[in-house]
Order: sequence, then C-alpha cells, then structure tokens
Amino acid sequence: MARTFLLGALVCALAGGLGAAARPIAGTAQPAVQVIEINAERFSFTPSEFRVRSDAPVEIRLRSDDTDHGFHILGTDIKIVIPKRGKGAATVTFQPPKPGRYVFECSKLCGAGHAFMRGTLIAE
Ligand code: CUA
Repeated sequence: MARTFLLGALVCALAGGLGAAARPIAGTAQPAVQVIEINAERFSFTPSEFRVRSDAPVEIRLRSDDTDHGFHILGTDIKIVIPKRGKGAATVTFQPPKPGRYVFECSKLCGAGHAFMRGTLIAE
C-alpha cells in the first residue's frame, strides 16, 4: 500500500542533524501520509528530532540496532515496543492533535542510559 521510500538513506545522512523533514507520499489525492523512519539503539533515537506537518498523519517506522526498546509519545496513547535487532520494525501512526512539540521517549527499560533516550517531534 504505502510506497517505500529511500528514507533510510536520508535519515542516515541527517543523523545528528537538526530537524530531519518528513516526506509526503506523492501521487495520492488524500492528505499525504508522512513517513518517518527512526533507528533506536542504546541510548538514542536517530533522528532524535524531526519536523512533520500537523495536518496529516505521520507513519513512524521504528527499528532497533540492538535490544528491545520502547517508543512512547508523552501525553498520547502512542506507546509501542520496538523489537530487537533482526526482528523487524514496529510501525505506528500518529496524528498530531495540533501544532507543537511532542516529546517521545523509550518506554522499555534497556540499560543504564534508558532515561536519556528521548527525542522531539515538531508538528507545524
Ligand atoms: Cu531504550 Cu529504554
């Protein structure tokens, strides 16, 4: 259904940079779903900050480079487990209720730096 993007390469290129931008899926008449790919590893998310449009849902695809992690957007019911490396991706769709900054964090205890595993989604 959803077209696959070479977003992985983009994400890698922007790793550590500020505000990786989501790309809308082209060629659809409906509000385009934005797709973001995030890698999780002890103890960070890459990208840890990204921007999306607030008027369309965001499909977030999460993959781990090591152990199980969690993904929870504070103040929302978005809370999923990211399977360990080699066990596939976890995907969740988030519709920002309004423009703003949404903090996300790892919600599964994954080691000493677990509490530092955070990031920000900026909907504008
Ligand atoms: Cu990753 Cu807790």
